[in-house]
Amino acid sequence: MRCDQTPAWQALQAHATAFQGFDLREAFARDPARAASLSQEAPGVFADLSKNHTDRATEALLLQLAAQTGLVQHRDAMFRGEHINTTEDRAVMHWLLRQPAASLSGALAAPLKQVHATLDAMLAYAEQVRADGAITDIVNIGIGGSDLGPQMAVLALQDFALAGKRVHFVSNVDGHELAAVLKGLQAGRTLFLIASKTFTTLDTMTNAHSARAWFEAQGGTDVARHFVALTSNVEAAAAFGITTTFGFWDWVGGRYSLWSAIGLPLAIAIGAQGFRQLLAGAHAMDQHFQSAPLAQNLPVRLGLLDVWYRNFLGYTSRSLAPYHSALRRVPAYLQQLEMESNGKRVDRDGQALPYGTSPVLWGEPGTNGQHAYFQMLHQGSDVVPLEFIAVKKPTHTLAEHHELLLANAIAQAQALMLGHSDAGGHKHFTGNRPSTFLLLDELTPTSLGALIALQEHRVFVSGALWGINSFDQWGVELGKVLAQDIRARIASGDASGLDASSAALLARVR
Ligand code: F6P
Repeated sequence: MRCDQTPAWQALQAHATAFQGFDLREAFARDPARAASLSQEAPGVFADLSKNHTDRATEALLLQLAAQTGLVQHRDAMFRGEHINTTEDRAVMHWLLRQPAASLSGALAAPLKQVHATLDAMLAYAEQVRADGAITDIVNIGIGGSDLGPQMAVLALQDFALAGKRVHFVSNVDGHELAAVLKGLQAGRTLFLIASKTFTTLDTMTNAHSARAWFEAQGGTDVARHFVALTSNVEAAAAFGITTTFGFWDWVGGRYSLWSAIGLPLAIAIGAQGFRQLLAGAHAMDQHFQSAPLAQNLPVRLGLLDVWYRNFLGYTSRSLAPYHSALRRVPAYLQQLEMESNGKRVDRDGQALPYGTSPVLWGEPGTNGQHAYFQMLHQGSDVVPLEFIAVKKPTHTLAEHHELLLANAIAQAQALMLGHSDAGGHKHFTGNRPSTFLLLDELTPTSLGALIALQEHRVFVSGALWGINSFDQWGVELGKVLAQDIRARIASGDASGLDASSAALLARVR
């Protein structure tokens, strides 16, 4: 049943009205068990949800909403390999990429076998590159899911990376990006990874062709040794002249593809063992999502909270604050994950929805954000829930820094909630501002895998409740088509039929 037609939705609306005077400080005073009951452990992650605008009654009603909208059935359909990506008639099985070998029977046994054959080959190749002293620079050319995942993870796990191999990422069709990377490279010491699920994305193909032209102009001859493709379109990679290809399947969405061959730059950086640990961490979260009771199921609780905030309390954005500089690309990664998955205004049947869906996600690492936009979080006119991601143990020995970092994270969550009274007005903090606190014990391949899988499943939960297809992305198509048309017009100068604004801009850029 569509979520807004369920009895639980009506009950949540009434609950939200009664909730208008809700105050976090009073809620903690009223309920001594609040911190404990709204916190939980999940594989690799501890989560404190207690500083959110929610209480146990809210959670109980949200669980009813989950039951009445068939969340569990939808989840189980994904894990059975059903074609829940209906607009593209595809299964959604990124989770299969982290499933241990030979652990499934029936229809999924064969694809799992293929997954492990490709994984073994890809990791063997990663080890070969790691041992190849001639290769010092790896350039990943890809965009969106073929860039953000591996880039985020290579940065996050830099402490586990092999010294002497630099990994670069080129995504933008803006030639400044490719030119800047190529400037410092030598053809004979560089390995290009052309990462594109479709192998048709204009940005990536333009960069790939320019990279090959550069390689040949620098005297490079062995394209087969220096170019590798990561793609589900093996024929197109062969047509480009690439002989080493690691494939994946149409049931892996671009923004869910870190776990596939798209993870090769990460595997080169951290090695086969590290990559397998990443997969194991994600798999532990898959199992938690599949088997934990919903009331203690972290992706479910987070996804339900997201629905509550978006549809009942009217919060339209969520800010992310990783308190760990190695997690600095996590906000960009999660932006694609959530906004490309759930930024939809129609249901699975294409019918317009009368309620809001994906919030805006944005953020920067702490403490940097504190000295930039946190002003608005504390004293602005909009309430923006903030999600902290902190790590208990650092990998450096600057103990004082880490203490200060963690103190700042906890203090910010506290300040948002407690506020501060001042009659003068400008120095007054209303407090009662919500936040979630995610804490990893250590930032390792295993815990990163769990953290990212947690976010994937939480996006699944809110998308399932909203009744949308979280696994297509038709909204990116129109701009691609129009760009081809404008490009031809830039060459020809033909502005006929264009709107006045576009025609004027065309004239200016020519
Ligand atoms: O334009 C959006 C998109 O299709 C994303 O969904 C995807 O991650 C990205 O482009 C890159 O696509 P590909 O891996 O096919 O080059």
